Amino acid sequence: MNKSSRKDWLIAPGPASKELAVSLAKSIGADILDIDSKLFPDGESYFRIKDDVMNKKIVIVQSTYPPVDRHILQLLFLAHKLSEDGAEVHAIIPYLAYARQHKAFLQGEVISLSIFSHLLRSVGVKRLVTVDIHNVEGLGFFSMPAYSVSAIPLIAEYFSKNYDLSKAIAISPDFGGSVRVEAFAKILKINHIVLNKLRDKITGEVVFKDMIEQVQNKDVILVDDIISSGKTIEIATINLKKAGARRVFASCIHPLLVGDALDRIKRAGVEEVIGTNTIPSPISKIDVTPILAAHLSTL
Ligand code: R5P
Repeated sequence: MNKSSRKDWLIAPGPASKELAVSLAKSIGADILDIDSKLFPDGESYFRIKDDVMNKKIVIVQSTYPPVDRHILQLLFLAHKLSEDGAEVHAIIPYLAYARQHKAFLQGEVISLSIFSHLLRSVGVKRLVTVDIHNVEGLGFFSMPAYSVSAIPLIAEYFSKNYDLSKAIAISPDFGGSVRVEAFAKILKINHIVLNKLRDKITGEVVFKDMIEQVQNKDVILVDDIISSGKTIEIATINLKKAGARRVFASCIHPLLVGDALDRIKRAGVEEVIGTNTIPSPISKIDVTPILAAHLSTL
């Protein structure tokens, strides 16, 4: 069989990621599992699997963006039923919720990612694939093979196709993003810097220490894994412009864009904000299908 064709797999589209699941199935030449799903008026989820799945390899595609806990429960329901009916269940969770709580930052905090990993194992998930997990340490919680594939090359490609990068510099807003920004800058052969972001653990307020001067008259590309409230990008942009940046672009893998995040980023003067379709949003311009398909082709 052609290595890139996975006719032996079935793709199960979770309610949160139907488009991406269909795109992935097309890309690898797999069939789509026939599932009836609906939400009851009280918010409960309903599923019925209409195909025989005994001894089939099935990849559930379900991202866990808001409503986070509903999307997680839907994933667990699907995985449990498919395992119970004799399938080998794999989960692609393009945006892995709770990955930011991979440790206790304050005494007494629940390590949510650890609980999530136990739940996945309990419903029979045999392999997990996600896109740019917040911190690779998080993969250590999973007792099944767990992989994080990176969309950074796709984001780099977007910028190289759409912009003149002769004055560009890549910036990570915090130390946690160092590896990502380094990889991004290496692909584009541009310089990179890591900012010193401090976030108040109680209020969520963001401040930057030691703002640098290398951005004078530069086109800054901010590279982050998640845009949630938008505060990180907003405050970074205001500071970078004060420090003399000519233009500021913002990119992320997972555009959560909670509340007025996009407006506050635009008000801060960002030229363009882009993200991937791990989460559907108005800025999800980059399709992660190729990196997920490439990963499946190696199995
Ligand atoms: C933090 O460590 C992450 O890498 C992102 O910078 C953060 O989640 C962004 O959150 P917000 O948009 O709420 O500032």
